[in-house]
Amino acid sequence: MTAVSNETAIPIGQMDDLQPGEGRAYGVEGRQVAVFRMTDGTLRATDAVCPHRGGPIADGQFDLGNVVCPLHQYAFRFSDGGCTTEGIGSVGVYRVEDRSGEIVIWL
Ligand code: FES
Repeated sequence: MTAVSNETAIPIGQMDDLQPGEGRAYGVEGRQVAVFRMTDGTLRATDAVCPHRGGPIADGQFDLGNVVCPLHQYAFRFSDGGCTTEGIGSVGVYRVEDRSGEIVIWL
């Protein structure tokens, strides 16, 4: 997770609505953000729209390191948003946390 800023934390939903192993897209301040709940309970967040051809990143398979877009299977790193395939571009990555059962994000 890079792109950590000092902006205000924005509450976007409840942890109970996002099960381990699940990703969901949220509308946050006019932006579509994909939030993923890892099997270890931690969260990751990226832009929800794939830079390749607009695929729904939140619906992709993921592990602790990467999410794979479901349309053409390009993978993006949670660490920096970069694609593991050269020339595809990158997604924004955001700080996201569980605060006493509430999902909060910093854009
Ligand atoms: S739209 Fe995401 S890999 Fe093509």
